[in-house]
Amino acid sequence: MSQKITKAVFPVAGLGTRSLPATKAVAKEMLPVVDKPLIQYAVEEAAAAGIETMIFVTGRNKNSIPDHFDKSYELETELEKSNKAELLKKVREILPPNVSCAFVRQAEALGLGHAVHCAKPLVGNEPFAVILPDDLIEDGNRGCLKQMVDLFNHEHSSILGVERVDPKETHKYGIVEHVEIAERVGRLHSIVEKPKPEVAPSNVAVVGRYILTPAIFEKIETTPRGAGGEYQLTDAIAALLKDEPVLSYEFIGNRYDCGSKFGFLLANVEYGLLHEEIKDEFAHYLRERIAKI
Ligand code: UTP
Repeated sequence: MSQKITKAVFPVAGLGTRSLPATKAVAKEMLPVVDKPLIQYAVEEAAAAGIETMIFVTGRNKNSIPDHFDKSYELETELEKSNKAELLKKVREILPPNVSCAFVRQAEALGLGHAVHCAKPLVGNEPFAVILPDDLIEDGNRGCLKQMVDLFNHEHSSILGVERVDPKETHKYGIVEHVEIAERVGRLHSIVEKPKPEVAPSNVAVVGRYILTPAIFEKIETTPRGAGGEYQLTDAIAALLKDEPVLSYEFIGNRYDCGSKFGFLLANVEYGLLHEEIKDEFAHYLRERIAKI
């Protein structure tokens, strides 16, 4: 397996129930962190890692996602007419250059494994990346996926982005058992979806970044429904592990779980403090506000 990673799958067909009522009619991935929707951060991260084809697995209420990446003639004409050059540039740059988008529908939200499998006809027989846009990762550089693609180019095997979590929180994640083979890199022995803290093999959690070999598709097809009655990607990875090596990679950067209210709020604070246009004013506000608590 020595192909380059040129395709990324964005499973965005989930119901986003933890973010209700905000996500009743709006896709979770369109919720903005400061001034950009989550999906745009994800696409920018993929482009920075050299991805050329962005594959979105969408569902009901997700039409705003293709709209966001389409050219908007009316809006561009209006901005041009009113000489809003800077805004026009921002709108035109939403889709990074030399990138194409493909869309496939997941008719029913049957789980992350099922969503990834919906992309099979578009991925074909090559290794590919998966990004869950609600895990927003800031590394102050080119991004988490770029770190993983660099590792793939040496190792040529599946890689899971991982992070150590509070041992009380293992029931929210896929948890791995691995042996360290290099700095930040482990070789997986096992993986289990959402184990209770008492039975979790470790506190090393899989987050929303994966590089997978195409063998995963056959594993998804032959793996029955798991936790929550859903087709779990974790269970298919557990099956893949029996046939080929799977690595874990402890990425550099801070992750914000924007699928939870608290993580989403943290992301807005942190990205606000990094945003050129507002960072000074926002930091000043926060200092004054905290002094009053
Ligand atoms: P989540 O576990 O966050 O589920 O999915 P969710 O439905 O989006 O949100 P909650 O838990 O109800 O609040 C992880 C990722 O997998 C995608 C989601 O869109 C998200 O990016 N997903 C999940 C699908 O695309 N299809 C599914 O059937 C399930």
